[in-house]
Amino acid sequence: MSTSPASTVAPTLGTPLSPSAVRVMLLGAGELGKEVLIALQRLGVETLAVDRYDHAPGQQVAHHSRTIAMSDAAQLRALIEAERPHLVVPEIEAIATPVLEQLEAEGLVRVIPTARAARLTMDREGIRRLAAETLGLPTSPYAFCDSLAELQAAIDGVDGRPGIGYPCVVKPVMSSSGKGQSKVDGPAEVQAAWDHAMAGGRVSHGRVIVEGFIDFDDEITLLTVRAAGRGAQRGEVHTHFCEPIGHKQVSGDYVESWQPQPMPAEALRKAREIARAVTDNLGGQGLFGVELFVKGEQVWFSEVSPRPHDTGLVTLSTQVQSEFELHARAILGLPVDTSLRQVGASAVIYGGVDTQDVSFEGVAEALSEPGTDIRLFGKPESFARRRMGVALATADDIDAARAKARAAAAQVRIIPGVKPRA
Ligand SMILES: Nc1ncnc2c1ncn2[C@@H]1O[C@H](COP(=O)(O)OP(=O)(O)O)[C@@H](O)[C@H]1O
Ligand SMILES: [Mg+2]
Repeated sequence: MSTSPASTVAPTLGTPLSPSAVRVMLLGAGELGKEVLIALQRLGVETLAVDRYDHAPGQQVAHHSRTIAMSDAAQLRALIEAERPHLVVPEIEAIATPVLEQLEAEGLVRVIPTARAARLTMDREGIRRLAAETLGLPTSPYAFCDSLAELQAAIDGVDGRPGIGYPCVVKPVMSSSGKGQSKVDGPAEVQAAWDHAMAGGRVSHGRVIVEGFIDFDDEITLLTVRAAGRGAQRGEVHTHFCEPIGHKQVSGDYVESWQPQPMPAEALRKAREIARAVTDNLGGQGLFGVELFVKGEQVWFSEVSPRPHDTGLVTLSTQVQSEFELHARAILGLPVDTSLRQVGASAVIYGGVDTQDVSFEGVAEALSEPGTDIRLFGKPESFARRRMGVALATADDIDAARAKARAAAAQVRIIPGVKPRA
């Protein structure tokens, strides 16, 4: 087990809204941030939830909330300087990360897990070059391109060097949840993939990654926690692994996840080795979602979130401590328990409709099945493909848990324009 000295920030915890309070700022307050905030609240931490719109899910459970453009360097710096939280916890990628690096270097705040990790993972280029070129980890073949002509050349190959070929996957370097991403099966689809990437990127700069398509058997998220050791090893950071989470993506967005994903012992060993290499390098304390592709005993690194992962929502019902509790504990310098409690699954509840008047129907029916649970995120506006909630289920085996979670999710429907009864 690799260890390194811990920078335990809060050996003592305080009382919220008093001078002793440990104060934590979440940058991004969606459904994942909301659960981290609840976990922090349970430990008496004073919380401040920041998002780009009012009444974001996490803002509804924090002591304080602020609405700013987190990608705007001046706004972000002004807010952090005014609030001076002990910890700044990024929940999303679209943040002015150079400001976080400056403030961390000035000794003003501690960023979770580190400001460098937030910067490297905010675009696909930083983390891919680190994993493949610096750490030498197995990844899909890839190239970065700034024009349609460069993209075509990267696929075809130049000067006798082999190209990425078909099928391949084209993604904007700055995007998440599959936005702007396409699979390209042949030359006729390259132009459309380029146009789709240009329309779907987070910021309007025309850079894409093209990756060789990996024909994997399974894709997993290996939740990896860097947290303080126990007992005499309290002063060191230890790496802890959760059981692998299997998941299903549709158009690059997670629709179902389950835990544990069975895999060959050799593949699990490699997955942990890759996850350890990446998280050791990114450093700091906290939970990471390491995304990997698995085929037989072969494992490829795909990407990593230095924070809780959407597919890890399943841990709300499967683990002794959910990924959100693990993150909260790790960042506070507390010991963690990554053990599995029960086999389970999650299924996303999508909006299905566009409305600003969101009511839910069928929740009682969904919950009537024993071993089923629901989270409704409280988002003030629904879109057809917006994640509005999640169904959770436990069962004796994965297939049964998945079927139960899917059935529960299907029961819940968003109905616009209805005032709910009390
Ligand atoms: N090179 C690839 N080969 C096969 N499938 C891929 C590849 N890249 C992405 N995918 C599929 O698309 C999903 C989303 O891609 P990912 O790179 O994780 O983007 P995001 O940051 O939007 O989650 C992956 O979980 C996987 O199912
Ligand atoms: Mg992903």
